[in-house]
Amino acid sequence: MSLYGRLTRPGPSGFGYTSTAEEVSVGLDLRGKHYLVTGSNSGIGWETARVLSIRGATLLMAARTRAKAEEAGRSLPLSSLPLECDLSEPQSVRRCVAEVRQAGRPLDGIIANAGIMALPRLEQKYGYELQFFTNHIGHFLLITGLLDRLSDTGRVTLLSSRAHFRVPPGGIQFDNLSGERGYSPWTAYGQSKLANLLMARALARRLPGSGQRANAVHPGVIATNLGRHLPGLGRSLLRWAEPLFLKSIPQGAATQTWAAVHPDAAGHQGQYLADCNLAPASALANDESLAERLWAESEGIAARLQTDT
Ligand SMILES: NC(=O)c1ccc[n+]([C@@H]2O[C@H](COP(=O)([O-])OP(=O)(O)OC[C@H]3O[C@@H](n4cnc5c(N)ncnc54)[C@H](OP(=O)(O)O)[C@@H]3O)[C@@H](O)[C@H]2O)c1
Repeated sequence: MSLYGRLTRPGPSGFGYTSTAEEVSVGLDLRGKHYLVTGSNSGIGWETARVLSIRGATLLMAARTRAKAEEAGRSLPLSSLPLECDLSEPQSVRRCVAEVRQAGRPLDGIIANAGIMALPRLEQKYGYELQFFTNHIGHFLLITGLLDRLSDTGRVTLLSSRAHFRVPPGGIQFDNLSGERGYSPWTAYGQSKLANLLMARALARRLPGSGQRANAVHPGVIATNLGRHLPGLGRSLLRWAEPLFLKSIPQGAATQTWAAVHPDAAGHQGQYLADCNLAPASALANDESLAERLWAESEGIAARLQTDT
């Protein structure tokens, strides 16, 4: 446990910074439940899937390629359904949606966990900056395509980040979603993570079932493959900081696991959670009109992609 972790105390939920995914799900029987996890082959996504599986759930393991999903699934205690879902390729997302629908099982949860961070140079897909496209638009397509497959008490959990505080002026640069009018690796990441949070807010208002939930989480700072685009110095600093400030992967997977399955988390709707508790979000993240504008813009992008791809 990191030095910082030793100094922290649990929050009102009884869990906190040092809680692990296994600890927050102790005693829960998830047999018969189905959870879709994106980015399930790596980091905190894989740990979340592993813990839900040991609690008895059936996992729909989504990964960039089917081979990665199959390999990740083989390491779970229970059998799972491997799914190819490259979030930067709308056709791949649509095929994944079709496969889940064909499997015919209601989903008890979608954990929108996959992500990329701080690409050093501007990269684009279909004219959009790649972090926004992968982290937000890919998940928007997936989640809206599966909303009617969500069980009456199904929960959508989106991975945001404290990085949602570090955004361009106005939060979402609607006039620069291509990144061509200016690109910074970190503000582009922050924008995509603000988009994840705003989507949870807007989705919470649209869920048809009163027992359904949508929330966004900050998992903590954890040394995972997410840092692959950091310069060498950044990666060295992370290694140095790990024993002092960072969470372990089991700790990093705790908040999304709690949000997805713990009975107490049903008390949260459209909120921002960290360390398995309610957390303060930025003013922009609390801006309902921004959330609605992003939802409308995302629907427009989805419609254009439907005809163009
Ligand atoms: N680690 C942290 O400190 C931290 C802090 C705040 C928020 N988060 C968030 O936590 C989530 C999980 O991150 P992590 O730390 O576990 O990182 P990770 O180990 O790098 O996992 C990210 C996952 O996303 C997948 N992914 C990337 N691009 C994809 C695409 N186009 N289509 C489908 N899947 C794709 C990766 O697949 P490949 O293995 O094929 O690349 C991988 O499975 C991310 O959303 C991240 O923003 C992490």
